[in-house]
Amino acid sequence: MLKLIPFFLASLAAAAPAGRYPLHRRQDVATLCEKNGYWSGNGYEVNNNNWGAASATSGSQCTYVDSSSSGSVAWHTTWTWEGNEGRVKSYANSGKQIARGQTIASIESMATSVSWQYNTSDIRANVAYDFFTAEDPNHSSTGGDYELMIWVAAFGNVAPIGSSTGTVTIAGDSWDLYAGHKGAMEVYTFKATSNMDSFSTDVKEFFNYLKDNEDFPADSQNLIAFQFGSEAFTGGPATLDVSRFSASVVT
Ligand SMILES: *[C@@H]1O[C@H](CO)[C@@H](O)[C@H](O)[C@H]1NC(C)=O
Ligand SMILES: *[C@@H]1O[C@H](CO)[C@@H](O)[C@H](O)[C@H]1NC(C)=O
Repeated sequence: MLKLIPFFLASLAAAAPAGRYPLHRRQDVATLCEKNGYWSGNGYEVNNNNWGAASATSGSQCTYVDSSSSGSVAWHTTWTWEGNEGRVKSYANSGKQIARGQTIASIESMATSVSWQYNTSDIRANVAYDFFTAEDPNHSSTGGDYELMIWVAAFGNVAPIGSSTGTVTIAGDSWDLYAGHKGAMEVYTFKATSNMDSFSTDVKEFFNYLKDNEDFPADSQNLIAFQFGSEAFTGGPATLDVSRFSASVVT
């Protein structure tokens, strides 16, 4: 069993004792409790993003930016959601701010590294990267023509949009690939065949797979959003602690 410092003690403590949770020092950079509470700095952004909260019968969520540097951001989010168990209530996330007008084909690498921990597995939620691409370089960052998700963990029998097309190996890991639609948007989800708690990769390898096997038009699709977070369905109170999210886009 994990021994956890209650959140209010962790935030009062000047520094968490070595070896005790949380492993990184919380600096209380920002507290985001509004539905679209938003912070940005050092080329990163963090969004509370309770976009589906209206489908909950009760619940709430706050997201906290713990520290930030030019190379990474650390944050955590605490939520409780009840009702409509098949509906996503939120996608609290950290994002890399990206320049518009970069096609996937023009991007050489999309290196990213992340470490996280949920304090309970008795929830219905995933831990996932989310990417949007669109032919219009100025497309709103809440959607696109295509969505690529990488689910690095899933709890409580939640499933991606669409249906499984089989298992593929990318960058040494094994994934169930799902394909489907959200409205007009084509959605591809790579779901890890076993849950992870840290992950480093070059996301370009996932886009290359879609280009080579699913006719993804890399020459005309621009990168719109590069995010990592958790889609919460139901459960809690639960805390996801992201001790480090880093990302870089190199053309
Ligand atoms: C995107 O927005 C920029 C800045 O407003 C503008 O210069 C450009 O023409 C727009 N591109 C398209 C394809 O609409
Ligand atoms: C997880 O964190 C939340 C918020 O601090 C807390 O209320 C809850 O009891 C924790 N759950 C477990 C299983 O420790």
